[in-house]
Amino acid sequence: MKILVLGSAAGGGFPQWNCNCRNCAGVRDGSVRATPRTQSSIAVSANGTDWVLFNASPDILTQIRANPALQPGRGLRDTGIVGVVLIDAQIDHTTGLFMLREGRPLDVWCTPQVHEDLTTGNPVFNVLSHFCTVRWQPVSVVPPSPFSIPGAAGLRLTPVPLTSKAPPYSPHRHDPHPGDNIGVLIEDAATGRKVFYAPGFGAMEPHLEPYLDDADCVLLDGTFWTDDEMISLGISTKAAREIGHLPQSGPAGMIALLGRYAKPRKVLIHINNTNPILDEDSPERAELARAGIEVAFDGMLIDDGDRK
Ligand code: MLT
Ligand code: MN
Ligand code: ZN
Repeated sequence: MKILVLGSAAGGGFPQWNCNCRNCAGVRDGSVRATPRTQSSIAVSANGTDWVLFNASPDILTQIRANPALQPGRGLRDTGIVGVVLIDAQIDHTTGLFMLREGRPLDVWCTPQVHEDLTTGNPVFNVLSHFCTVRWQPVSVVPPSPFSIPGAAGLRLTPVPLTSKAPPYSPHRHDPHPGDNIGVLIEDAATGRKVFYAPGFGAMEPHLEPYLDDADCVLLDGTFWTDDEMISLGISTKAAREIGHLPQSGPAGMIALLGRYAKPRKVLIHINNTNPILDEDSPERAELARAGIEVAFDGMLIDDGDRK
């Protein structure tokens, strides 16, 4: 199985267009050692030819250009993307679907909650019905029902509900349901390798235990270092946990949590531009390294048998 990180940043990307925080200003003027990142998406393939897109970021066209495997060029019109899985209905994970409008009908796997948002508050599917059209493939988390994607032979996907938050424009924003946000266990049937992908991991919950314990690799929420990261910068009134992201630091943070699991390769993804771990010379980045936790970057390839 190959996991290609197309975009490793959270909504807004890095640097964010209007942001002059230490990281964003520093990466622009070269005073901070950091790498720009596009918005949150990965592509997964069992055979290296047929790819499942997990989340469609506003940066998808740049991401496809940067990753030739996604454009195999076998015909006048062609793509290596055989299906799309959405983990939530957020702008950074869904508006890239608009950019695929010239193609064939899009097969999109998502929960009924995400489908509701994408036909009401963020009506991406309605708009696309005038272009390529979307064929919704329902995903059930109660109970978690494994599924596979025709055309992506060899991959088995298990959706896992995450307590998080529906987007601000969701009709059920204040009425949380399992399925607003999911993690996905991605299994390679041939090798038995397991990857757990959860860029919107807002809190540890008992049902998540086996996924963290048994996966060969976890790709987890790297959005914020501290709970009050955006509050203390004066750019938001919302804490990380309030918007469904478990921060890395602190006794109940992501680093402490991951310390309990010996088996998986640990990678943080969906990193907000304010997060000090983006500065490769920061003490926070060194702390992650000491904990054996990697920071995803655009173009990162996680391959079977390739532990680094
Ligand atoms: C989030 O996951 O909270 C987002 O990145 C929000 C956004 O896209 O603005
Ligand atoms: Mn996001
Ligand atoms: Zn910034």
